Amino acid sequence: MSATANIEPQLPGDLVVGTATASWQVEGDVAGRGRSIWDDFAEVPGAIVDGTTGEPACDHLRRFDEDLALLADLGFDAYRFSVSWPRVQPTGRGEFRHEGLDVYDRMVDRLLQRGIAPIVTLYHWDLPSELPGWGSHETAERFAAYAGAVAERLGDRVSRWATLNEPWVAAYLGHASGIHAPGARDPGLAISSAYHLMLAHGLGMRALRAAGARDPGIVLNLIPVYAEDTASAAAARHIDGLHNRFFLDLLAGRGIPQDVREATGGFCDWGFVRDADLAAIAEPLDWLGENYYSVMRVARAESPGPGLEAYPGCPSAAFAPREPTTAMGWEVYPAGLVDALQMAATALPGVPLWVTENGAAYEDDVIAGAVRDSERVDYFRQHIWSLLQARESGIDVRGYLAWSLLDNIEWAEGFTKRFGIVRVDPETLDRAPKESALWWKARLADRLSP
Ligand code: FCB
Repeated sequence: MSATANIEPQLPGDLVVGTATASWQVEGDVAGRGRSIWDDFAEVPGAIVDGTTGEPACDHLRRFDEDLALLADLGFDAYRFSVSWPRVQPTGRGEFRHEGLDVYDRMVDRLLQRGIAPIVTLYHWDLPSELPGWGSHETAERFAAYAGAVAERLGDRVSRWATLNEPWVAAYLGHASGIHAPGARDPGLAISSAYHLMLAHGLGMRALRAAGARDPGIVLNLIPVYAEDTASAAAARHIDGLHNRFFLDLLAGRGIPQDVREATGGFCDWGFVRDADLAAIAEPLDWLGENYYSVMRVARAESPGPGLEAYPGCPSAAFAPREPTTAMGWEVYPAGLVDALQMAATALPGVPLWVTENGAAYEDDVIAGAVRDSERVDYFRQHIWSLLQARESGIDVRGYLAWSLLDNIEWAEGFTKRFGIVRVDPETLDRAPKESALWWKARLADRLSP
C-alpha cells in the first residue's frame, strides 16, 4: 500500500471530473427502441448469469431528472452517457426516429441547465440486431451515417464525442471468447470485427466533423501487459499486440503491426484491409479516452489459462492477477494507470487524454440505510493519486470519469456485480448515494482553484 493510501488527494481545478454510464446498462424503456444484439444475447439461456434483460435496467430514461439532480448535488462537472443506436434508428438503416433523438436532446438540455457537460459515446456495444455485424464493411458505413445524424441534432450542445467504447471488448469478447454479444467463437471474425470497428470509428470521425461536432475522439481500454517470467514474453507481446498496439498503430497511421499479422495468419488472411480504410482510421483525434481498471500479468502455463481464448493465436500462458482483487477478480494496481496513460501518450503524442472510466465492483454493506463501500473509496483515492502522478510527470490528462454513477447491468454478470457510487435497490430501483458518492462530493467541494 502506498504512503498516500489514507491521505485525501486535492483535485486540480482544471481537471474535468464526472461519472459515466452506458445505454444498455441503465436505460430500460425497451419498447421505445429497436432490438440490439445485447437483447438477443440476453435471451440465450445462461448467457447472462442472473437472467437479467434490458428491461427495466436502472429505468434511467424515466428517472433521468432524479439521477441528474443527484449528479448535480454531488458536484460533478460532466456526465458521459451513450446513445442507443437502435433507439434513434431501430434497424440501423433508413429513417431516424425523431422520438429517439428527442430523448437525448432533452438529456443534453437538462444537463446543460444544471451546468454539467454532456459527453456522448455513440457506440457502447448495443448494435441494432438487423445489421450484418462487425465483420462487415456495411456496418461501418451505417455507423458513420448514424453518427452524422446524431451530431446534426446534438452537435451544437455536446462538448465531447467518443465514436466507440472499447473496440477490443466488442471485437474479442463478442466474437472470440463469445462471453459478450453476439456470442460468436470465431477468431477470424473477431479480427475482422476489430478492423471494421476501427473503420467505423474513422468514418464516424469524418461524419462528426462534417456535422460540426466539437472534439470527436475514441475510448479504448489500453491495458499494461507484464510478463511474469522470460518464458511468457512471447505471450505477453501477443496479448499487447491484439489488445493495445493494433488500435494505437491504426490510430497513429502506422497500419497493422507486422507481428500481429504474422501471428494471426493461420486464421485470418487480412484480405479485408484497404488503404482507403487505413487513411480514414488515422483521421486525427481531438482526444483519446482510456478506461482503466487493472493490468494483465502473464505467466507460463502448460495449457492455455482461462480467458486466453480472447487472444486468438496466443502461445500457451495464464493470467496471474495479484491480490488485492475486486469482486470481478481484477487486480487493484493503481500504478498501472500511469503505465496505461504513458502508453497512449507515447503512441499518440500531442493528443489530450481523459480517463473515461475507472472504478471497482465490491459487495456493499447496507447498514441502517447507509451504504458503506470503503473499499471503493480506497480504490478511487489510490487511482486519483496515480492520475496526479501522471500529470506531474507531464502526461496531458484533462478529465476523469468514475464508473459508474449507478449500480447497473454489468453485461454478462447481470446485476451480480455492482460498480455504482449510487446504489440502485434491486426491487424498488430506489437510488441511495453510497459512501463513495459522498467521498466524491467532499473531494469536489475541496478542489483547488483553476
Ligand atoms: C468496461 C465497460 C463498462 C463497464 C466496465 C466495468 O469495460 O466499458 O461498460 O462494464 O467495464
